[in-house]
Amino acid sequence: MQQTLIIVKPDGVQRGLIGNIIGRFERRGLQIIGMKMMRISHVLAQEHYAMHKGKPFYDGLIRFMTGGPVVVLALQGNNAIDVSRKMMGATFGFKAEPGTIRGDFGLSSSFNLIHGSDSPEAAAAELARFFSRTELVEYKLASSDWVYDFSGGQPQ
Ligand code: RTP
Ligand code: MG
Repeated sequence: MQQTLIIVKPDGVQRGLIGNIIGRFERRGLQIIGMKMMRISHVLAQEHYAMHKGKPFYDGLIRFMTGGPVVVLALQGNNAIDVSRKMMGATFGFKAEPGTIRGDFGLSSSFNLIHGSDSPEAAAAELARFFSRTELVEYKLASSDWVYDFSGGQPQ
């Protein structure tokens, strides 16, 4: 089982899309193991998007991510990182496929509703950046017996 970090960005919160976005992940079968609303500080935003420092969109990106509250989620499931990235869609709403979060709700080339970790390394670093150990909750999700086939012992 893989874990990933998702952020409902300030535009998603302000547009009233928190429930819709989180609901999609729940319906897919991904398990929420951490969730909180917060305001991202400048320092945290700079750390999170350090790989984009120096790019033309960087200052605007930091302003965007610190411009309102966000909802941060830790999700767990089979191939959670790739599955979530596919559900998010392409970076810009106007290019994202219908059926994806960005493709259903966005048109912008900078306000794009959601962040998701893009690799196992990024996921580990980002989960540690946004959640303390005690904020991540271990529990058995009742529906998992029907999301996965456990007849062979391992989830299939
Ligand atoms: P994210 O990191 O937020 O999950 O998004 P992503 O992988 O799809 O896109 P990435 O290339 O990592 O870019 C990070 C965020 O910066 C903004 N952006 N603006 N104007 C531009 O050319 C531009 N390019 C990127 C977007 O908010 C993007 O999500
Ligand atoms: Mg990215």
